[in-house]
Amino acid sequence: MRANPGGEIAPAEVFGRDKLIERLWRILERQSLVLSAERRMGKTSILKKMRAEAPADKLPVYRDLEKVRSPLEFAQTIFDDVESYLSRSKRTAAKARQWLTNLTGLEIGGIVKFPDAVADEWKTLLSKTIEDLVEYQDRTVIFFWDEMPLMLDNIKKKNGESAAMEVLDTLRSLRQTHSELRMVYTGSIGLHNVLTSLKRSGYANRPTNDMKAVDVPPLSPNDAEELARRLLEGENIETDDIQTTAKAIANAVDGIPYFIHHVVDHLIEEDEAVNAARVDAIVNTYLIEPQDPWDLRYYRERIDTYYANDEKQLVLNLLDILAVTDTSVPFDDLFNRLESRLVNPDIEKTRDVLTLIQQDHYILLQSDGYCFRFPLIKYWWRMHRGVR
Ligand SMILES: Nc1ncnc2c1ncn2[C@@H]1O[C@H](COP(=O)(O)OP(=O)(O)O)[C@@H](O)[C@H]1O
Ligand SMILES: [Mg+2]
Repeated sequence: MRANPGGEIAPAEVFGRDKLIERLWRILERQSLVLSAERRMGKTSILKKMRAEAPADKLPVYRDLEKVRSPLEFAQTIFDDVESYLSRSKRTAAKARQWLTNLTGLEIGGIVKFPDAVADEWKTLLSKTIEDLVEYQDRTVIFFWDEMPLMLDNIKKKNGESAAMEVLDTLRSLRQTHSELRMVYTGSIGLHNVLTSLKRSGYANRPTNDMKAVDVPPLSPNDAEELARRLLEGENIETDDIQTTAKAIANAVDGIPYFIHHVVDHLIEEDEAVNAARVDAIVNTYLIEPQDPWDLRYYRERIDTYYANDEKQLVLNLLDILAVTDTSVPFDDLFNRLESRLVNPDIEKTRDVLTLIQQDHYILLQSDGYCFRFPLIKYWWRMHRGVR
């Protein structure tokens, strides 16, 4: 296996995800899915592997929605995807086409792009398009929609938050109408980051509360080590001891597959045999490099982008406190420490913000309190913020 950080990897090279994928197929038998994870955890790789290896009774339709900017563009995108699965005769018979022909007077075969004039009709177009596919397919249709929250964010910016909500509500009602239809939403920001009014009410789950939320974790320590070992072998990297070097790589990057690829890619250029100490040194330089090749500043910048002004100081202070504690911190203790840094912090707002930074994968709540989720990010936070 060759190192390919950030590149598209073949389904067979998506390592350590078989059990999770099996579970996802099992869930999809009954309901739709929201797959969430920190970016670069391997969501897209999982979706593409599922598309490539779908059981015979499933029709997976994958689409990256990042560039879609309006509800009409969304309807158009789905229309294009659906048409590619319908035979020519079925296309002519299809409801979406017929309806559009009646509405616009355009030739039935000629429609390739929805005219702007039908923008207000996106819901009907979307519904009929999806009906067409469900009706003409004997397989279960599963839409894999990657970067769904980014599309909603685009729509929100252009057409307002209610338009974004309407897209979600329409999709929910389509799921209710077609019991066989499945959708998988995923993306590197959460729906709650986009739908701030829902966020304020605590939780962005109303338009998705019929879907199963699944978190994509890092690779297990064994799988991460095995991936590192195969990459070291595949790149012919000389080591003092391949197993301890592989273990050091897996460990230093918390089992996050993207960083495993990255470290091995870096090791290709080493002149001498590498070992665990060298791996740790390399990871440490990545964390403090001003060029920030791993784009870790994202963890700081995201707070400015997606958190309200009155939440930012709370978030920064909570993370600063947790970055320098070795053990988990119970809520009371955490709030006490917050009070020594901020004037009259609001206790309920603090609770809300803790929920949000949990949903954004910064922290975990364990039985004995809160802690950073990833030691790598915790260490970076400490360095970047200069807290100790
Ligand atoms: N299961 C895996 N096995 C091997 N490499 C992986 C795996 N998952 C992710 N990667 C590596 O991480 C990179 C980012 O993965 P990707 O699926 O694009 O993440 P996400 O969609 O969560 O941002 C890939 O290009 C690949 O190098
Ligand atoms: Mg992705």
